[in-house]
Amino acid sequence: MSMNVFASVQGMQQCALGQKKAGHRIGLIPTMGFLHEGHLSLVALARKRTDWVVLSIFVNPIQFMPGEDFLQYPRNFERDEALCEQAGVDLVFYPDQKEMYSTDHSVFVEETSLSSGICGASRPGHFKGVTTVVAKLFNIVMPDVAVFGQKDAQQCRVIQRMVRDLNINVEIVVGPIVREPDGLAMSSRNRYLSPSGRKKALCLRHSLDLAEKMVQAGERTVSVIQEAVWATLSSEPEANIDYVAFLDHETLTPVLLIQRPVLLALAVRIGATRLIDNTVLYSP
Ligand code: PAJ
Repeated sequence: MSMNVFASVQGMQQCALGQKKAGHRIGLIPTMGFLHEGHLSLVALARKRTDWVVLSIFVNPIQFMPGEDFLQYPRNFERDEALCEQAGVDLVFYPDQKEMYSTDHSVFVEETSLSSGICGASRPGHFKGVTTVVAKLFNIVMPDVAVFGQKDAQQCRVIQRMVRDLNINVEIVVGPIVREPDGLAMSSRNRYLSPSGRKKALCLRHSLDLAEKMVQAGERTVSVIQEAVWATLSSEPEANIDYVAFLDHETLTPVLLIQRPVLLALAVRIGATRLIDNTVLYSP
């Protein structure tokens, strides 16, 4: 059966209801498009768990803060459509802004604890935009399973909390970070990097590697590892550190010692491009 593309909310809901009536389990991968292998790895995870896979493409204006890259965000629907077809997506939901937000839209979903640190502190209001659009997508596509990437670790925790606290009946699956062969985490925003910036961006992966090695060698003190991570990032003069955070992986609260899984999360600007990456440190 060939892949469908829907732009209308009502059409999407009708179709999802039809699939449910037919006894199918629905999988959803929410994206902002300009797809890469990281996104497509999530399609494969959804395929394993469900019978009918929907990938949504919507560059969500309300999760971009003033002065951010909403207008420049890369878009290429034809290419995304072809990649979805190859990856075995059953339906692409591709609404425009008018379809998703009435001009007098006034209801938001806000997580008020896990969203306050790291990316939420650097981008105030960002996660309110994310939880609102994801809640809308859940109501429109009615998935049994939704798949998100660990690349955006804080986003995963915030969405798991939203689903728990609002009793939303959707299973959240988290897929591992997919990287380029040289270790750079795949991201639609890598497109902004110049050839020299692309090389400099490897300092993120190098600093995570070093932290992992230190933990494997028995180091447990966060301040010691943090110093090494800062030194590695700072050895790249054009890397501008936004944050280096060591957080309990479940609660996202800061930790001083590595005694359970700890999320080491980085946000670094290379020129004007803000990149994020992370790893989970723990070796029992
Ligand atoms: P976007 O950045 O397009 O990412 C869509 C999904 O792909 C997210 O769950 C993200 O974590 C995952 N992803 C991105 N890069 C990845 C990589 N290298 N490896 C594995 N997974 C990766 O995240 C968003 O869009 C938006 O905030 C959204 C959830 C769609 C709400 O608007």
